[in-house]
Amino acid sequence: MKITSAEFVKSSVTQEQLPGTELPEFAFIGRSNVGKSSLINMLVQKRELAKTSGTPGKTRTFNHFLINKEWYLADLPGYGFARVSREQRNEWEATLLTYLHKRENLVYVFILVDMRLEPQKSDLEFINKSGMQGIPLAVIFTKSDKLGSNVVRQNLANYKKVLLETWEELPPLFVTSAEKGLGREEMLEFIGKAIRDFQPPKK
Ligand code: GTP
Ligand code: MG
Repeated sequence: MKITSAEFVKSSVTQEQLPGTELPEFAFIGRSNVGKSSLINMLVQKRELAKTSGTPGKTRTFNHFLINKEWYLADLPGYGFARVSREQRNEWEATLLTYLHKRENLVYVFILVDMRLEPQKSDLEFINKSGMQGIPLAVIFTKSDKLGSNVVRQNLANYKKVLLETWEELPPLFVTSAEKGLGREEMLEFIGKAIRDFQPPKK
């Protein structure tokens, strides 16, 4: 898929504010600072479409972008913030799971994980919760440029091993680097294929 246009649509706080469901939607989610906004900008090749920051927790709203006037890309706030109360955190995670469960035009949720780290409990929990709800998901490994190719291979193999402890079959996995543009073609092709199978929800 070639990206011909990418525009910001809106930021939403509540589910009622989300854009309509007539177009296929792909959501990007992951722990704060994992590189969601950077990956989005890399995919659509717009440096500042999604705001990036060195301060974790900057994105707190559902941010929708319209790509090629054909599909929605949703940049979702991170889960597992360290710097908010447990109560706020639980509330936010419940909001996310509601969105994932109810959003009728959601085609895939891309769960981003930082390649450099050992499999994190909060990521695995989120992957497993989404999987158990039957939500189509893919795991996107970020920041691969910060590792040597051997370590990339090792960490990927280790992650697969951990996922196979709970999953019968592995979800689609992508190794990416926003810095180097790695994984861009593969992800766009994957999205393009999924769009072709999309049926808008019946009113
Ligand atoms: P929140 O919106 O706060 O949840 O963060 P986010 O997940 O959107 O992360 P963001 O894209 O803002 O990136 C966080 C930091 O990681 C920034 O300093 C980025 O420059 C850096 N970063 C993101 N992706 C990459 C990557 O692929 N390689 C390298 N080297 N750094 C990256
Ligand atoms: Mg962000």
